[in-house]
Amino acid sequence: MTMRIHVTVNGTEREVDVVESTTLLDFVRDDLHLTGTKECCDLGECGACTLLVEGRAVNSCLMLAAEVEGGEITTIEGLNENGKLSPLQDAFLAKGAVQCGFCIPGQVMAAHDLLQRNPHPTLDEVKEGLSGNLCRCGGYVQICEAVLAASEVS
Ligand code: FES
Repeated sequence: MTMRIHVTVNGTEREVDVVESTTLLDFVRDDLHLTGTKECCDLGECGACTLLVEGRAVNSCLMLAAEVEGGEITTIEGLNENGKLSPLQDAFLAKGAVQCGFCIPGQVMAAHDLLQRNPHPTLDEVKEGLSGNLCRCGGYVQICEAVLAASEVS
């Protein structure tokens, strides 16, 4: 059975018909064609699918699209500022925090949420804030450095 979802996506109001059982992750990737959000474990364990719902980071593989009816979501595609990378995204590049890149959209979204709540975190707070996001390349040092660098320019 399908339902119509009304949701603001990266600042734009959308109205989309989806199968009721569609996850938020599949909705974003398959229905909205925003493939920056990655699918990996599908179990809520890796964080690759992290995006923002009402400004807070969530594992989109664990939510239904129906749960965002009337709400607002932000994906990695919506994080730029007037067409330019955000300071956080710039910091990931400057610190060489990207290896294979697969986990990076989720890492950036989780870090964005962290910095919104805690603009100047300690290293331990960054580690805690990103503890739900796994990096198979093991690039955690550079990722944490990038988040700390971004916190210094905000
Ligand atoms: Fe959602 Fe891994 S794909 S947490």
